[in-house]
Amino acid sequence: MSPITGKDTVASLQARLEQTERQAHARQRQLERYAADLREVFKQERARAQELRRSYMATVRALSNAVEARDAYTGKHAERVAAYGMELARCCGLAVEDSPQIEFGFLLHDVGKVAVPDAILFKSGSLTEEEYSLVRRHPVIGTEILRDVDFLGEGKLVVRHHHERWDGTGYPDGLKGDDIPLAARVFAVADALDAPTTDRPYRRGTRFSRAREEIRNHSGTQFDPDVIHAFETISDERFAELQAGNE
Ligand SMILES: [Fe+2]
Repeated sequence: MSPITGKDTVASLQARLEQTERQAHARQRQLERYAADLREVFKQERARAQELRRSYMATVRALSNAVEARDAYTGKHAERVAAYGMELARCCGLAVEDSPQIEFGFLLHDVGKVAVPDAILFKSGSLTEEEYSLVRRHPVIGTEILRDVDFLGEGKLVVRHHHERWDGTGYPDGLKGDDIPLAARVFAVADALDAPTTDRPYRRGTRFSRAREEIRNHSGTQFDPDVIHAFETISDERFAELQAGNE
């Protein structure tokens, strides 16, 4: 066996070093390929999720429009209330960008009215006790209609609780204060803003400033004072802009 010379050792070390470097480069290239594959999968998944979200939104809007089509006077009430509600929900710290479920609930809040006959829903005179109790069932009927539609998630809580009142005198469950889901407390304010500010064939809608005063008067009774506080940070001009975008 020939002795190991200094020259051989340097040469073999160099060869081993080069081999190690080649292996390291190969591993790096492999890792880069994995990273690129993962990025591609992630991109595809995100595109699929966005597509799914668009499909859900289109379905919800179709259903909402079908409900609204019965009432020629309210126009795009659900779209406007949803726009006001989303603006207010953001100010109240609700994570509406991450999940569309709250917006779904805003759009479908009155879906249960499909079960209320036209003769009662559009009656010009005052309702009898029996008729009124039928109208008051619409949040429960709406919840029943949407019961198995899982993608609506907490949006279904808006449908059920949008007529609850902060002081506990609302319906259908008479929930009080924080027991009412926040999205439903937000919606109640948005809903109260729409009716008086919308033009009807028999009268022009009032200004947002007038409607705001009226809503403010019901802080702590009908509405959550914290939601009213957030509501006051949104200008009349902003609401007018949202209204114009949903006419
Ligand atoms: Fe309602």
